[in-house]
Amino acid sequence: CGIVGYVGTRHAAPIIVDGLRKLEYRGYDSAGVAIHDGHSIEIVRTLGKLARLGEALEKRPLAGSTGIGHTRWATHGRPSEANAHPHSAGSVAVVHNGIIENHVAVRQELEVDGVKFLSDTDTEIVAHLIHRELSRGKKPLFAAVQAALRHVVGAYAIAVVSREEPDVVVVARHGSPLVVGIGEGEMLCGSDIPALLAYTRSMIFLEDGDVAELRASGMRCETVSGEVVTRKAKHIDWSPVQAERGGYKHFMRKEIHEQPEVVEATLRGRIDLAEGDVYAAEMGVTPEVAQSIRRVYFVACGTSHHAAIAGRYWMEQLAKVPSVVELASEVRYREPLFYPDDLVIAVSQSGETADTLAAVKAAKAGGARVLAVANVLDSAIPRVSDGALYTHAGPEIGVASTKCFTTQLAALLLLAVYIGRRRSTLPQERAQQVLQALWEIPSHQREILGDADYVHAIAKKLVHAKDVLFLGRGLGFPIALEGALKLKEISYAHAEGYAAGEMKHGPIALIDEHLPVVAVCPRDAQYDKILSNLQAVRAREGQVIAIATKGDEAMLELAQHIVWIPKAPDEVMPLLTVLPLQLIAYFVANLKGNDVDQPRNLAKTVTVE
Ligand code: G6P
Repeated sequence: CGIVGYVGTRHAAPIIVDGLRKLEYRGYDSAGVAIHDGHSIEIVRTLGKLARLGEALEKRPLAGSTGIGHTRWATHGRPSEANAHPHSAGSVAVVHNGIIENHVAVRQELEVDGVKFLSDTDTEIVAHLIHRELSRGKKPLFAAVQAALRHVVGAYAIAVVSREEPDVVVVARHGSPLVVGIGEGEMLCGSDIPALLAYTRSMIFLEDGDVAELRASGMRCETVSGEVVTRKAKHIDWSPVQAERGGYKHFMRKEIHEQPEVVEATLRGRIDLAEGDVYAAEMGVTPEVAQSIRRVYFVACGTSHHAAIAGRYWMEQLAKVPSVVELASEVRYREPLFYPDDLVIAVSQSGETADTLAAVKAAKAGGARVLAVANVLDSAIPRVSDGALYTHAGPEIGVASTKCFTTQLAALLLLAVYIGRRRSTLPQERAQQVLQALWEIPSHQREILGDADYVHAIAKKLVHAKDVLFLGRGLGFPIALEGALKLKEISYAHAEGYAAGEMKHGPIALIDEHLPVVAVCPRDAQYDKILSNLQAVRAREGQVIAIATKGDEAMLELAQHIVWIPKAPDEVMPLLTVLPLQLIAYFVANLKGNDVDQPRNLAKTVTVE
């Protein structure tokens, strides 16, 4: 879900709706705006896509240059117009992201006072709490919001307007993202950078516990408890065009094709080929720290979890540090054991995933050092971590992650080299080879992406498949998992990623002439092993679609369809083999006419459990 707010001199409604559109990737089921026209606040809310809000606003245009807007993804209360934000009470209207944990108790307390609730949301209580403070004489709105939030337990980012203060938007955050944009004679706020990028590049990232009053002329900021704080603006150099679709039908396709560029951006300035070394001092992992690590403990969810599995293999092979990978949602409730000489690596493109954040907090509480690998600057996970290594994928709009994944792979491989060099477990020559291979990845990726037509032809054969099995070994295993995840996310086909060696313990029972098997089988150290797994598939009439290395003649005998990958050292293969799998998923979903960028039931950033 997303928040946008505006205060200035232009018509607020179109700017807010435009900003909300840029946040569509976060997933939502309803939308609404509240606009102050100088005298009163008008609210328009609709169920469904933003286009419906746009239509409603055409029928009933709202004039006014102060306002807030919201796209909602239901957590408390089903998707409906009544549950859509903004919610109002007395003179105030509120939009909110996050979850108010003590909403049941506060609701009961307010009901005893005679409050009648119009929705099932936890947000409505915030509106009533602010209204109560105002009616008790707490003024201005800024002070009333501070006072109200002292009664709130949970995670929130909110934006509030009041009939009494036509030129003010008050915002606050605690645990959910909120960015303030500084325009010329106007101020904006939003849940994420792309919402504001068309209007300004100068942005302030509020901290947890901040409450800010936005006026056309600027912002003042205090904590919830009234302490004055200054927050410095940062310059964001993403161009608005970067956040648009760039000529492709879908953001996902555009993002797949951006991979060579963003992988290069992630590597740039960090590689020293001559020395066979990596520069990443910003992470705060000094040579002493690197030497003291006894275990690397990766935590992540979804696609980031797959990147973490590759990260583990590299950490063991190159840096020789014992490593484990855990799903963040499992770690947080498992009473995990951490040690001070653990390096916990939290991989999260958004930096906001609730489960990953909770796992990080558990690791910190257990005394471990935490390093975030994230794509969003100053997001929650890097903030609570001891250091961060940022990927430079730019904004990713398609819900199904593609370019963020490959930049995570690049960053994790850099990290393994960095640590291996500092522990002297990775010889310089090997490091040089790996870094050289990594540096050549973008051009290999361009070659693969240039051949997309052939992948399209393969996708046509998969359109009617109800089940697809993806197999891989070694570094091909996380890629098989990722290929299956991509396909199921956007094409809604059932797909399963499996370690090829495990096939004989189950999936082999499924194999017949109707089951397509996609095999990640480049010519790497595991090649012979996977070849025999594929022979077992062929012996049972399964159809094999292989992602294989150019010149691999044996594959011609085995596979019905082959996507060829340029030759490259084993370590960097995942950055190549995943590309055809992303394209297969994309083409199948597109052929089915699915909403590729916003697949049903999924959200880009999952800030709830
Ligand atoms: C959601 C997204 C996935 C993503 C996962 C973890 O499920 O749809 O694309 O992989 O969250 O997100 P993170 O931001 O922590 O990488």
